[in-house]
Amino acid sequence: MTAPMYNLSISSQLKNYFDLIIRAGLTFSYINNERVGLLKNKKALILTSQGGLKYDKDMDYLNNYLRDLLNFVGIEDSTFIGVEGVAMKPNNIELEHSNAEKKLWILLITTNNFYGIFNMIYILN
Ligand SMILES: Cc1cc2nc3c(=O)[nH]c(=O)nc-3n(C[C@H](O)[C@H](O)[C@H](O)COP(=O)(O)O)c2cc1C
Repeated sequence: MTAPMYNLSISSQLKNYFDLIIRAGLTFSYINNERVGLLKNKKALILTSQGGLKYDKDMDYLNNYLRDLLNFVGIEDSTFIGVEGVAMKPNNIELEHSNAEKKLWILLITTNNFYGIFNMIYILN
């Protein structure tokens, strides 16, 4: 999944997607008064980008929010790779992209999810 930071959080398009899929009985359920995510044994890979820098974690409603939404549906193993400063430091974009790409190649080598990770590398290029 790719997720740009829009006004400190996720885009309205991505929010709309979660609003459509996070439904009781579909991706989560209530069992004995407890909420249970139904998407078990799944992992998520999230590629984020933001115009500024991650200097102020108190105002980051993107990474934790996404992690919580994924947890909500049962995906507890999520990896976040971020590209930052695309507006603040435009000269650094290539470096940021190549750092993110390196992290993706390492994931590719250490996991079996070739298709998803190749897609991410394609998006970066
Ligand atoms: C509507 C809008 C809101 C944004 N809000 C933020 C923000 O709160 N913090 C930030 O660091 N960058 C912000 N940005 C910059 C984007 O995170 C950055 O350009 C990102 O790479 C956008 O990806 P996209 O061009 O694929 O949409 C915003 C960009 C847009 C268009």
